[in-house]
Amino acid sequence: MTDNGAPMPEPYKIKVVEPIAATTREERQAILEAAGYNVFGIPAEKVFVDLLTDSGTSAMSDRQWSGIMMGDEAYACSRNFYRLTETVQRLFGFKHILPTHQGRAAEHILFATIAHSDSQIPSNTHFDTTRANIEHIGATAVDFMIPEGTDPETYHPFKGNIDLERVEEFIKEVGPEVIPICMLTVTNNAGGGQPVSMENIRSLKELLRPHNIPLFIDACRFAENAYFIKEREAGYGTHTIPEIVREMFSYADGCTISTKKDGLVNIGGFIATNIDDLAEAMRNLLILYEGFPTYGGLAGRDLEAMAIGLEEAVDERHLAYRVAQVRMFGEKLAGVGVPVLQPIGGHAVYIDVKRFLPHIPQSKFPGQALTTALYIEGGIRAVELGTVAFTKVDPETGETVYPLLELVRLAVPRRVYTQAHLDYVVQVFAEIVKRKDELRGLRMTYEAPFLRHFTARFEPI
Ligand code: F0G
Repeated sequence: MTDNGAPMPEPYKIKVVEPIAATTREERQAILEAAGYNVFGIPAEKVFVDLLTDSGTSAMSDRQWSGIMMGDEAYACSRNFYRLTETVQRLFGFKHILPTHQGRAAEHILFATIAHSDSQIPSNTHFDTTRANIEHIGATAVDFMIPEGTDPETYHPFKGNIDLERVEEFIKEVGPEVIPICMLTVTNNAGGGQPVSMENIRSLKELLRPHNIPLFIDACRFAENAYFIKEREAGYGTHTIPEIVREMFSYADGCTISTKKDGLVNIGGFIATNIDDLAEAMRNLLILYEGFPTYGGLAGRDLEAMAIGLEEAVDERHLAYRVAQVRMFGEKLAGVGVPVLQPIGGHAVYIDVKRFLPHIPQSKFPGQALTTALYIEGGIRAVELGTVAFTKVDPETGETVYPLLELVRLAVPRRVYTQAHLDYVVQVFAEIVKRKDELRGLRMTYEAPFLRHFTARFEPI
């Protein structure tokens, strides 16, 4: 809402436009078939509304593009590194800043430094690249989401919270010496873009402190999380977003971040921490894997765009619009009969496919079937987060274990699409709803040995 009561339109005007393709249904049918019924294989130019991810897909502002021209491309100690360092220190309060080319590079360097094969890393929910980087070292990633987080229908203001009791039991069970850090993902992407409360962050720190276990935040969507705290948590309504961000990170000993999300850049990330000897050890690995510690795999211009993007990310008008845009999109989808995960998260709307397509069993990939229908019907690209992405084989029994939730995520890129684009998606869904009982499942014809969802191929049944 604006102060005159009118619904809030986009808080920006458009200076540069990029045409998007219109395709016919016949063309889309042929494109999808050639892509093996996997939307990851569709040329982006053939997508009309691309909701595959909110990562690296943001539109940069005029200030950021100006910043690109201010890149200092010196190998060592470029001006932009100091600008970024000053910005991160002011917003997050951490002493050491190590730039990386994206989030998973930050995770790689952190875990390669602190974890061993017997390490245990608890979290609310590790994102899949975080989990993969932990498991790559032979360590164990453990998720302790609160029970409400696993129910797509109930309302809870902070469904991303970590289950403190289970963390406490876990520390007792395995011993603090095998837990090099505890992680917290804000917002919780794998659990539906749900926020974590300030109270939960503070209490987690209090729980970890006597055991000397540092707390690290996966900060990809830190600004959206701060906005939810302002909106939903008692006592924070009058705080500014930078004040909330500063308090959130005051309970942490460090963070990893992909600035391709809230950081509003197309590539970038960093690790930040207050622990001196850890920073020094990570800097040595950074030189080995990413680059000299003042650029870490990025150009000077990228660091400048990132510093400016982080400032814009905590602008309250930007966040108010962003969160309202995603929420309104979700509510409109629910209004045409699409079961969406509640409450609607910060960066995406998640569809509960088990309730939407109950006639397709998980063995026939109902989430994948929905992503293919969205492309055929409207040139829309979404991502399956269900049977294709998360099915596991029980190492003891050899049995296939399907994930509890079968979701399709419609992620909304920042500052890219207008309300009209999202209304178009709602209309396409309204058509799909009418004929949803006719949708059929798929048969998988190829799968890679790991992370199969990116390259798997299918055929319709
Ligand atoms: N952590 C979270 C919570 C993420 O959502 C992602 C990426 C990463 C870490 C890794 O960052 O891609 O820069 O290496 N999420 C994207 C997504 C890919 O679509 O949700 P990255």
